[in-house]
Amino acid sequence: MIPVTETLIPPADAERSAGDVLLEVEDLAVEFRSDDGAVRAVDGLSYRVEAGRTLALVGESGCGKSVSSLAVMGLLPPTARVVRGTARYRGTDLLALSPTRHRAHCGTHVAMVFQDALAALNPVHTVGYQLTESLRSRTGTSRREARRRAVELLDLVKVPNAAQRVDEYPHQFSGGMRQRVMIASALALDPDVLIADEPTTALDVTVQAQVLRLLAEIQAERQMGLVLITHDLGVVAGVADDVTVMYAGRAVEHAPVRDLYAAPAHPYTRALLRSVPRLDSGAEVAGGRLPVVPGRPPAPGRVPSGCSFHPRCDMAQDLCRTVEPPLDDVAPGRSSACHFAAELLGGARA
Ligand SMILES: Nc1ncnc2c1ncn2[C@@H]1O[C@H](COP(=O)(O)OP(=O)(O)OP(=O)(O)O)[C@@H](O)[C@H]1O
Ligand code: SF4
Ligand SMILES: [Mg+2]
Repeated sequence: MIPVTETLIPPADAERSAGDVLLEVEDLAVEFRSDDGAVRAVDGLSYRVEAGRTLALVGESGCGKSVSSLAVMGLLPPTARVVRGTARYRGTDLLALSPTRHRAHCGTHVAMVFQDALAALNPVHTVGYQLTESLRSRTGTSRREARRRAVELLDLVKVPNAAQRVDEYPHQFSGGMRQRVMIASALALDPDVLIADEPTTALDVTVQAQVLRLLAEIQAERQMGLVLITHDLGVVAGVADDVTVMYAGRAVEHAPVRDLYAAPAHPYTRALLRSVPRLDSGAEVAGGRLPVVPGRPPAPGRVPSGCSFHPRCDMAQDLCRTVEPPLDDVAPGRSSACHFAAELLGGARA
């Protein structure tokens, strides 16, 4: 059990005002040990999470969304290590803390709903017991008070009949309701920042929409900072304020969500957007099939020279094969790691 002292954990009720910078990740790089040596899974990722805003981290499978988040949380597997970068929570670099202090901050002020969360619920304990485990172990809350809080948390995530369901077991809950329980569990200590890793992929479309709406409501109500991780740009449209698109361990585009949808500044984002079904445009689903991004992303350790996206890019030129494009500002609040971002944006405006 982690001892809770004032010096270990800053006050839980520090005020949150819209726009406060809560979490700032800068130049994060993570490597895995492998038989072929060190393999870079995340390389130079930066993002910022503000109170009352939702940042979507988007990219295909394997681009580093989960690994970068686990690094921020201090929960990397033993074969991985942070080789560069900072993750400042209200100014304190979490990555420079001892493992004990790091874990004390995370789970308390920066919480995460894990990608395989549904499998994480223990079948032999009631939902209420599991919901308040962190509360009891970190704050010494009594069993009676913990149960009251568990009902409150189930109410918060809109589980009907919370006072009764708190004593039920996970198998008595549907997938959507179990995901709500996992969200409630992450909210138990009223975190400033919630990282939700693919919180809806295991759910059917209607339930996905409900869970996303719920997350957005809670985020707005509490002025929390939300990091929403997904491989699906369609999911973020109605929920996120800003989007960071990742490819092969790096951020390749960052933009406010509306700007990104209106005019992507990176060919990878453009390709991802083409694969999102659009109800307002029959042209996007010509022949009944959605276009997918051709080819596959590179495995870590096999990232191509120059622009890592060049083997799959329909705009690639010789320069792209040799010179890696930096993530540069291309418009207010927007950045892109493409040599031809200006042309892309210019073309969209023309
Ligand atoms: N335990 C591990 N050992 C070795 N490599 C790993 C390990 N976990 C992840 N990786 C590698 O790190 C890279 C980033 O993985 P990560 O899980 O962050 O991807 P992701 O973007 O979350 O993908 P997904 O959308 O499938 O969840 C991947 O290429 C993966 O192969
Ligand atoms: S730098 Fe070249 S290869 Fe990379 S995304 Fe831009 S145009 Fe495509
Ligand atoms: Mg993942």
